[in-house]
Amino acid sequence: MVKAKKWVLVRHFEGMAKESDLELQEEELPPLKDGQALFEAQYLSVDPYMRIYTAAAPLGSTMIGEQVAKVIESRNPKFKVGDYYAAYFGWRTHTVSDGVPAADNALNVPVNLAVKIPDLGNLPISLGLGTIGMPGATAYLAMKEIGNPKPGETVFVNGAAGAVGHIVGQIAKIRGCTVLGSAGTDEKCSILKSDFGFDKTLNYKTSKDLNQSIKELAPNGIDIYFDQVGGDLTDIIVPGHMRQKGRVVIIGHISKYNEAEMPKVPNPYLPVLINELRVEGFVIFRREREVWDQGFVEMIQWLHQGKLKYKEHITEGFANAPQAFLGLFKGENIGKAVVRV
Ligand SMILES: NC(=O)c1ccc[n+]([C@@H]2O[C@H](COP(=O)([O-])OP(=O)(O)OC[C@H]3O[C@@H](n4cnc5c(N)ncnc54)[C@H](OP(=O)(O)O)[C@@H]3O)[C@@H](O)[C@H]2O)c1
Repeated sequence: MVKAKKWVLVRHFEGMAKESDLELQEEELPPLKDGQALFEAQYLSVDPYMRIYTAAAPLGSTMIGEQVAKVIESRNPKFKVGDYYAAYFGWRTHTVSDGVPAADNALNVPVNLAVKIPDLGNLPISLGLGTIGMPGATAYLAMKEIGNPKPGETVFVNGAAGAVGHIVGQIAKIRGCTVLGSAGTDEKCSILKSDFGFDKTLNYKTSKDLNQSIKELAPNGIDIYFDQVGGDLTDIIVPGHMRQKGRVVIIGHISKYNEAEMPKVPNPYLPVLINELRVEGFVIFRREREVWDQGFVEMIQWLHQGKLKYKEHITEGFANAPQAFLGLFKGENIGKAVVRV
């Protein structure tokens, strides 16, 4: 009999998420039936979306999330013992599954419950949650579909030292752009330049005048604003610093996720009109897994060629998953935050 540990949502997050909103519990798993396999979590992913998507999750359910899961027993020829999957099983150490998602999954989109992680060669398997996973696919596809970077253009990415941000900047660099990024510490800003090839960076927490700082960073304006954060930077950049025909790629709004009420969206319509900007939202979960995989072909090549570098922020131990999650909102991570189970 296998006992699974799981983190259960016992209170919906209100304002800043709290550790006490989650509870560590145990569950005895039933023996495998035909068609099922037993998966063991190796790494858990912690991601900002969990803060908002849990609103739709019933209390008492396992905390939502993706994990790198290893097949350790199988009665399904599709799932081979020893294979690694990226699976939306939630925060649990062991899972019995036939690979079919529940119709009422909290993500409320037709996710692939468990997808075999592509062959990564000698790269760490945890990249299946990062560069060769959801954040990597987001960076690659949102830049391709909406950003459409051209050589010589100027790209500004906020949240630049995070899971998605450090990849977006490198893709823009590979595409021949000038890359500017903002992050919340001097250490992050310096790593963005030394490790990931950003041209210039901005510590948005210590800038005394954000408008002036952006003017200094991008004196000729910004062609692509990759927005994951919203708030002050967006209020300043969209109306005041975009070049004509610029693109604003909106993928997140983390500065407001822990606020009690959804913020009022500013009204930048006049500058959007005058500068003929394209402003478009993007949600990775509405893109088919096959489309992610097409992007991963090029990204895996870049990783092996050393053109794309990865960084992970690893928290040790299943018991520390809530701290790792809350750390996202304190800016603790550089690169992709994962938990080693
Ligand atoms: N639409 C999609 O398909 C999609 C997919 C993936 C991610 N996203 C979104 O993209 C964003 C980044 O996600 P990620 O997975 O790459 O996470 P992440 O950037 O690795 O982690 C969060 C980072 O956000 C910054 N942050 C936290 N609270 C903040 C606040 N109040 N104001 C400003 N910055 C804050 C922190 O860095 P600093 O030190 O810089 O403050 C922190 O390290 C999130 O908004 C997420 O929801 C969207």
